[in-house]
Amino acid sequence: MNQDQWTAVDRYITGLLVPPDAALDGALRDSAAAGLPPIAVSPAQGKLLHLLARTQGARRILEIGTLGGYSTIWLARALPAGGQLMTLEVDPRHAEAARANIARAGLAGVVELRLGPALETLPQLIAEKSGRFDLIFIDADKGAIPEYFARALELSRRGTLIIVDNVVRNGAVADPASTDPAVIGVRRFHQLLAAERRVSATTIQTVGSKGYDGFTLALVIADL
Ligand code: SAH
Ligand code: DHB
Ligand code: MG
Repeated sequence: MNQDQWTAVDRYITGLLVPPDAALDGALRDSAAAGLPPIAVSPAQGKLLHLLARTQGARRILEIGTLGGYSTIWLARALPAGGQLMTLEVDPRHAEAARANIARAGLAGVVELRLGPALETLPQLIAEKSGRFDLIFIDADKGAIPEYFARALELSRRGTLIIVDNVVRNGAVADPASTDPAVIGVRRFHQLLAAERRVSATTIQTVGSKGYDGFTLALVIADL
C-alpha cells in the first residue's frame, strides 16, 4: 500500500460520491492561485464533516483554522435556515481568500470569520456568552490542540461533537521520542482526553490523498 494507491482510491470515491461543485472546486482553485498551502480537508473528508454536522442537527458550528474556507463551506452547507458558523483564522491572506470563497458559495450571511490568533479569539467568544456550539472542528496549528480543546469544552454543552483533524501525523502520535511540536501537541491532547471525564472520544487513523493521518471524535457527555 502506498500513497499512489491511497490517492487513486480517494479519486475513485470522490468521482462517484462527491460531484463537481462550483463553490467548493472554486475555493480550492482560488486558494491554490493565491498561494495558500494545499492542506484543506480532502473532498471525502469535507463530505464527512458535512454528514456529521447534519447527523448532529447542528445549528451553531465553530471552526478553528479556516484556510481558504473549503471545510467551512462543507460545514456551513449542513446548517438549517437560521444556522450560524463562526470560523477563526490568524492569517489575513487566508482570511481574505476564505471570505471571497465563502461569499461565492452564498454563505456570507451564515459564516462569521474572526481574524486573530485563536488563543485570543476563543477567550473573546467565551466572554461574549453568545451561546454554545453544537459542533466544533479544530484544525489550526497542531501544537496548540490541547489548549483549543480546553477552550472548545467551555463553548460546548452536553451533546456537542468536537472533531479534531490531523492527530495521527503519519503514525508519529505513537512515538514518545518525537520532538516535533505538532506531535507533542497531539500526544498531549490524547493524554488530556484520557483523563477527561466529560467527553467520550476515539481516534480513527486514515489514509487518502493527504497521506496517513487521522481524526478524533469527542462527544460531550456531561452537563457543562
Ligand atoms: N480547515 C481548513 C484547513 C485549515 S489549515 C480546511 O480543511 O479547509 C490550518 C489553518 O489554521 C491555516 O489557515 C492557518 O493559518 C490557521 N492557523 C494557524 N495557527 C493559527 C492560530 N494560532 N489561530 C488561528 N488560526 C491559525
Ligand atoms: C497541516 C494542517 C492541516 O490542517 C492538515 O489537514 C494537514 C497538514 C499542516 O499544517 O501541515
Ligand atoms: Mg487539517
